[in-house]
Amino acid sequence: MKDEISPTTHNVVWHHATVTRARREQINGHRGAILWFTGLSGAGKSTLAHAVEEALHQRGCRTFVLDGDNVRHGLCGDLGFSKEARVENIRRVGEVAKLFMEAGVIVLTAFISPFRAERQRVRGMVEHGDFIEIYCDSSIEVCESRDVKGLYKKARAGQIAEFTGISSPYEAPENPELKVMTSDDELDVCVKQTLELLQNHRVIKL
Ligand code: ADX
Repeated sequence: MKDEISPTTHNVVWHHATVTRARREQINGHRGAILWFTGLSGAGKSTLAHAVEEALHQRGCRTFVLDGDNVRHGLCGDLGFSKEARVENIRRVGEVAKLFMEAGVIVLTAFISPFRAERQRVRGMVEHGDFIEIYCDSSIEVCESRDVKGLYKKARAGQIAEFTGISSPYEAPENPELKVMTSDDELDVCVKQTLELLQNHRVIKL
């Protein structure tokens, strides 16, 4: 039994597909890519990711959003918010995002992903240019004052341990491909900036 769930890859040989990523991308008319949205809880990652997905979908692109709150109901339903659990969360999401990308999809991930090293690890799993990091820059003060899910209040009251920005760190990206000011700018401005970025990175043609 232990062997069946062993993380080692002994005796497992990679099978090469004849239908390649490049062939899928050719049919799709755009490149696959990972758009990695990172930022505090309540910074607007999911809102922006879904709005960008909507815009891409309307242009006929193949897209998928992996969202922290949703993925934690299924694939990562066994994980909490300790450092180790968050590292594992991002490892799994990175692997899934890579599969989607290889399927030719523009995958948009919306996770706090607070640790620089874990984001770097995902970046290192794919080719240069495939991982596009978008920092949703909203101060803790703004996120906390909005407190859409009421979680900051609970965290301040000590009802949630290891809450990002309060009792657990958030390491802002040093060199993201794009920084969007989600608390200052309107959503459509942030969407436009993201689409321009995708065009500049030759993921899509506008
Ligand atoms: S991550 O740190 O592992 O990347 P993820 O994005 O999956 O986090 O999940 C964050 C969401 O879980 C938050 O938006 C919030 O709704 C919820 N949450 C519950 N507990 C915590 C916590 N301790 N810290 C941060 N977010 C939490």
